[in-house]
Amino acid sequence: MMKEFIKRIPKAELHLHIEGTLEPELMFKLAKRNQVDLSFSSIEEVRDAYKFSNLQSFLNIYYNGANVLLHTEDFFDLTWAYLEKVNVENVKHVEIFFDPQTHTGRGVPISDVIEGIHSALEKAKYKFGMTSYLIMCFLRDLSEEEAIKTFEEALPFRSWIEGVGLDSAEVGFPPKKFERVFAKATEEGFRKVAHAGEEGPPEYIWQALDSLGVSRIDHGVRCMEDAKLVERLVKERIPLTVCPLSNIKLGVFEKMKDHNIKEMFDSGLCVTINSDDPAYFGGYINDNFLTIQKSLNLSFKDVSQIAKNSFSACFLPQDLIDNHLQDIEIFTLNEANNS
Ligand code: HPA
Ligand code: ZN
Repeated sequence: MMKEFIKRIPKAELHLHIEGTLEPELMFKLAKRNQVDLSFSSIEEVRDAYKFSNLQSFLNIYYNGANVLLHTEDFFDLTWAYLEKVNVENVKHVEIFFDPQTHTGRGVPISDVIEGIHSALEKAKYKFGMTSYLIMCFLRDLSEEEAIKTFEEALPFRSWIEGVGLDSAEVGFPPKKFERVFAKATEEGFRKVAHAGEEGPPEYIWQALDSLGVSRIDHGVRCMEDAKLVERLVKERIPLTVCPLSNIKLGVFEKMKDHNIKEMFDSGLCVTINSDDPAYFGGYINDNFLTIQKSLNLSFKDVSQIAKNSFSACFLPQDLIDNHLQDIEIFTLNEANNS
């Protein structure tokens, strides 16, 4: 009953790294097609290697997996496989991160990356009516100069990219370091988001707001250590894109029952539920909803509110957001009447 409700409720996914949707099956297929040597001999061996102790231990394996992505069609296949999956999960809108530097650093032209992802997004619009935006992330463990170079390389594709973000290893790489590239993004009219407060301190969330001017925080779960920060996030309606399964797999919380999303929600924060890197963390968006709902005993009303938050927090024009909110309202009322 709850499972069906979660499956069928319309939702948006706002924190999803396309490279993190690479399932071992596709990894093997692409390795063969591109004659890339994988350090694994079977799909089981790949899955066995997915035991992480923190963000860095995951990133090492995640960047290694991305080595099989070489050509436009690889990026298309990767993105299309994800979109087909979440269409079945009733995702109506996606805002997808990609990490150009993970690919340009290996000699893959940025145009191949963007064109491959973009054509899959176009196909999903046409076939499923699913809307989408692309968010280009800078790797914060590389220099700001490299981020600026990447930003400039992406400018010919400006109309296909809605926003910029910041990801990769967090601790020791404060958002402030990327002030200049985010200022350039502001000039070009991009939306801005940043990973902050996943492993890093609340101070990094302040910096993302004040130095980078972001309008949404990715993860942000550590904001709860700073009451003044929570007050600000509530007052300015800054949404947080929380990723429950990711947080457990990377040791941000020990067990799902320890997750603080309910406290965040009860503090009046606009929290959303997302999958981050579903192929690596063992579940797509509905699994993330379900595991949190079960562990924290969320009500139908809570789930419905979190689904609404996903649209309130997204970058679609307001009239489309309002339509989605209305759809959720009707869906929720119908479900309540039928139960
Ligand atoms: N944090 C930082 N970088 C990432 C993540 C994450 O959760 N997933 C993919 N790159
Ligand atoms: Zn992430």
